[in-house]
Amino acid sequence: MKYGYFDDASREYVITTPRTPLPWINYLGNEDFFTLLSNTAGGYSFYRDARLRRITRYRYNNCPLDQEGFHLYVKDGDTVWNPGWQPVQTELDSYSCRHGLGYTVIEGTKDGITAKQEFIVPKGEKCMLIRVTVTNISGKEKELSVFPYLEFCLWDAMDDASNFQRNFSTGEVEVAGSAIYHKTEYRERRDHYAVFWANREAQGFDTSRDAFIGVYGSPARPEAVFGAGCTNSVAHGWQPVAAEQFDMTLQPSEQYDLILGLGYIENPAEEKWENPGVINKKKAEAMIARFSDNGTFDAAMNTLKKFWAELLSGYQVESGDEKLDRMVNIWNQYQCMVTFNMSRSASYFESGMGRGMGFRDSCQDLLGFVHMIPERARERILDIAATQFPDGSAYHQYQPLTKKGNLAVGSGFNDDPLWLIAGTDAYLCETGDWSILDEEVDFDNDPALRQPLMEHLRRSFNFTRNHLGPHGLPLIGRADWNDCLNLNCFSEHPGESFQITGPSEGPVAESVFIAGMFVKYGSAYVRICRHLGLETEAAEAEEAVAAVEKATLGAGWDGAWFRRAFDAYGNVVGGKECEEGQIFIEPQGMCVMAGIGKETGEAAAAMKSVEERLDTKYGIVLLQPAYTRYHLELGEISSYPPGYKENAGIFCHNNPWIVCAETELGHGDRAFQVYKRTAPAYIENISEIHRTEPYVYSQMIAGKDAPSFGEGKNSWLTGTAAWTFLSISQAILGLKPTLDGLMIDPCIPADWKGFTVTRRYRGAEYHITVQNPGSVQHGIKRILVDGVAQESKILAPASAGSTVKVEVVMG
Ligand code: GLC
Ligand code: GLC
Repeated sequence: MKYGYFDDASREYVITTPRTPLPWINYLGNEDFFTLLSNTAGGYSFYRDARLRRITRYRYNNCPLDQEGFHLYVKDGDTVWNPGWQPVQTELDSYSCRHGLGYTVIEGTKDGITAKQEFIVPKGEKCMLIRVTVTNISGKEKELSVFPYLEFCLWDAMDDASNFQRNFSTGEVEVAGSAIYHKTEYRERRDHYAVFWANREAQGFDTSRDAFIGVYGSPARPEAVFGAGCTNSVAHGWQPVAAEQFDMTLQPSEQYDLILGLGYIENPAEEKWENPGVINKKKAEAMIARFSDNGTFDAAMNTLKKFWAELLSGYQVESGDEKLDRMVNIWNQYQCMVTFNMSRSASYFESGMGRGMGFRDSCQDLLGFVHMIPERARERILDIAATQFPDGSAYHQYQPLTKKGNLAVGSGFNDDPLWLIAGTDAYLCETGDWSILDEEVDFDNDPALRQPLMEHLRRSFNFTRNHLGPHGLPLIGRADWNDCLNLNCFSEHPGESFQITGPSEGPVAESVFIAGMFVKYGSAYVRICRHLGLETEAAEAEEAVAAVEKATLGAGWDGAWFRRAFDAYGNVVGGKECEEGQIFIEPQGMCVMAGIGKETGEAAAAMKSVEERLDTKYGIVLLQPAYTRYHLELGEISSYPPGYKENAGIFCHNNPWIVCAETELGHGDRAFQVYKRTAPAYIENISEIHRTEPYVYSQMIAGKDAPSFGEGKNSWLTGTAAWTFLSISQAILGLKPTLDGLMIDPCIPADWKGFTVTRRYRGAEYHITVQNPGSVQHGIKRILVDGVAQESKILAPASAGSTVKVEVVMG
């Protein structure tokens, strides 16, 4: 069942009922000001950091669901309704929500009145605009009032949700004309405030929630709206809100519009006040003036649309399969931008208070983003590297506002260092900008420990090399990519964090997954060394990689698949002798992507085992058989009920590893089969089962052991975005950036006749046509570059600004 449809020409997903299985959200903003917005206008805004600069309030785990947001109440006689249906839930005559790239349009009709809310965060601005358009299509005169409403957050979302004894007394606002200023804590230590404004004169306002909603009221029944209107209340403490009232008399066909804004302003300490106690509003007034009419709103919308069109034009495919095209050309790249911006901080499943930017997460996110805005990827790599410790290990997370490592989570996730090589290598392959390796970057955010980025990579590599266990495989530490495989944890008490309980390092527990990473990204490191002329170092590194590869094919091999790990007692995890958890997806994907066992057959055997043991109709589960009881020696993984999350859920993130791995072996049919199973556009028509948004990936889909098999959770913020983009754009369609240029090596289903791709690469534009007359899955017969045959699959970089025509015939 579907709840909407893709409008590819407009690059929108159009939701046609407000009763989606879960709120289906969008992200507005991609610089400083962000809004999460659901299809019924729920959500919240923040400036840069979802925890420390939360502008509006949102209650997670809410019931009724999704009540806080940017609602507009329309009062038409005795009927009160919202264009997005929520929170009053008056039945609408028509409803639609168009989630576009960086904007959302919600429109509802009731009793001959149409009300539309267009939401956008303009480029280069620290604000969100909401244009409200009310149209009288009833054929008779109508008298109406509309009320926009939002609730402010007292900045630190964590404190806001817990420190009530203080916070119920600190709230402060100022009202000036149609602008409501939220200035809690501005008087003492803050230099920022928020402003909600309208470009028309309001007939009334409220800033006290008790006044607008009522002490025992609810957003579904605000007293001011259902009663006699706003009362011009001024909040002192308690819950400051912004509500305004606009009255109108509309003739038949008459339209009324109103531009609302929500902005964030910072003032330097010496310019905080205009008068004692009165905040300096200059910047806010300038912002308000910039968006005074429809023309400026339309211009902001056009700029945003152009920005996205330009950004996406860096990779566009025409495959003849509209679902594939919409994933590649629009939604997958869009999600890559969102994950790049948010890491795992703020979604409808991530509260924005817990995790900051993840070291491994952000390094992987940029794999799917670097082709869009390489300069931002560059800056991110340097930020991440600065949180690395001198011994090559790393803070697992950092706060985006301070860019400082997060002490509470600390270090000890032994895959982290290698992801820095992965991210930097991707940047080098994309841009050829070798200067990044010379950038001086702090260790542990300490300028005294500054070293060139290349030295960071070296220490990443050496960290793994110097932390090998009894079988010559890398030690796992607290966990590797799988945060829930905690082999040194042994937690017996509720409430302990699986990630930080127990020693951060054990001398025995080893990870075959990190071994696969070391071979894959260690080899990338070797290539980087060679490129820099560091031949001795390259040769030494190569030897270390070869030794780990050998250990992987030795102790790491179980007979028909790669083992997962050795636990703290030296017992096998993910082997046939295990009672539960005999086979895991991660080492199969990573080791085969690394090319381990490609020549000797293990790689093919591993892929076969994945297909036989882990496949389901909704994707590949993480492991089998699921853990049915708690294993003290394995940690969190066995704490989840069977079929959920890391315990045999379909963890979407590592499905594309299998796609990439299958293409390593030339299996285009299978690769595309795996790709399609989790790709949102292909499962749109089971939205009632999948439940999360059909235009983006979710972190996890319940596996076959779960009662809710097929149900998605944790949508949006997942490494799946970057990896699926890699798997389709690089592994299947076969355009792989390398240090030496763009490689063309498609691996496609045999029944594809061909496809074309336009790809921007190092400033040149490549128009690539691939034909597959012999119905092969892999292999190239001929490449013509601007009409000239060439031997190599790698195209030497063309000069920036040029257009290159590439004709490829497979066979
Ligand atoms: C979450 C984490 C990620 C981890 C994955 C598997 O998505 O953000 O870092 O690799 O879970 O445990
Ligand atoms: C839990 C989740 C895992 C996530 C981790 C982050 O362990 O299961 O997916 O990566 O928390 O701390």
